[in-house]
Amino acid sequence: MTSPDALATLHPRLPSPVREAHDDRFARRGVRLLLKRDDLIHPDLIGNKWRKLAPNLTAAHGHTVLTFGGAYSNHLRATAAAGRLLGLATVGVVRGQELADRPLNPSLARCVADGMRLHFVDRSTYRRKTEPDTLAALLRTIGAEDAYVVPEGGSNSLAVRGCQALGQELRGQADVVAIACGTGGTLAGLAAGLGPGQRALGIPVLKGGFLTAGIRHLQEAAFGGPRGDWHLDDRFHFGGYARTTPELDSFAADFEDRHGLPVERLYVAKMLYGLMTLAEEGAFARGSTVAAVVTGRPFM
Ligand SMILES: Cc1ncc(COP(=O)(O)O)c(C=O)c1O
Repeated sequence: MTSPDALATLHPRLPSPVREAHDDRFARRGVRLLLKRDDLIHPDLIGNKWRKLAPNLTAAHGHTVLTFGGAYSNHLRATAAAGRLLGLATVGVVRGQELADRPLNPSLARCVADGMRLHFVDRSTYRRKTEPDTLAALLRTIGAEDAYVVPEGGSNSLAVRGCQALGQELRGQADVVAIACGTGGTLAGLAAGLGPGQRALGIPVLKGGFLTAGIRHLQEAAFGGPRGDWHLDDRFHFGGYARTTPELDSFAADFEDRHGLPVERLYVAKMLYGLMTLAEEGAFARGSTVAAVVTGRPFM
């Protein structure tokens, strides 16, 4: 059984620390930059993973936790680590049947080392995993019919409500709070937790421009309607999920040097790049404070 008390024994660092970063690209526009260090919440349940998984681990009531992800999923690794730390069985359904016959990459190897059972599925089944019949057949094949199922990226209503605390922790501290978006679940909760006059800015890392509807839907399911002031800027996906460019890589390396912050490349680098570009475009009023949420840490 995973109780809130069991989670407390993992000693999450909450509220997560906030520190000011002195950066001339912001300073010359009269803008203060804060780093909200969610990457320091827990060494294994990093950033938004703690905020999203903790309420789900409690709701799992000791059942096997089954979830979904790609071959390098941060969410799969965090779920596997939670299983090890809390003594819960975990199953990871991985996109790509072809991976079953290859040596595990370091991310999946870490999942297995943490006790996660992996099940590889072809891409078409993976796409249909939220359809009740496909899911039921999958759970039967895996022998996990009574598992507690967490969706890909961990973004269900419990997770979205868990991310409200991120916004609450930032009340009164910033005018704009920027966050990288995959499913948008973290943004949906963050925006709901912010105070009056604060707004959330989401930087999607996937290409497609479909996320606004998804976030509205997540807020509807979690809170019964829209919450908070938020919008997305779709210009900074750099070609799509896990895509990068030499420019983004050198920006991230330079940011690490300037601020002593390990910059996670799939999400955090794109958010920081977007924020810097917006500052240079004059998008933030002089005298305003912008907080960048550091939702992850590079995987070594
Ligand atoms: C480091 C990091 N930042 C941000 C996100 C985006 O979270 P969400 O799917 O809630 O938008 C993820 C997603 O898993 C992530 O791993």
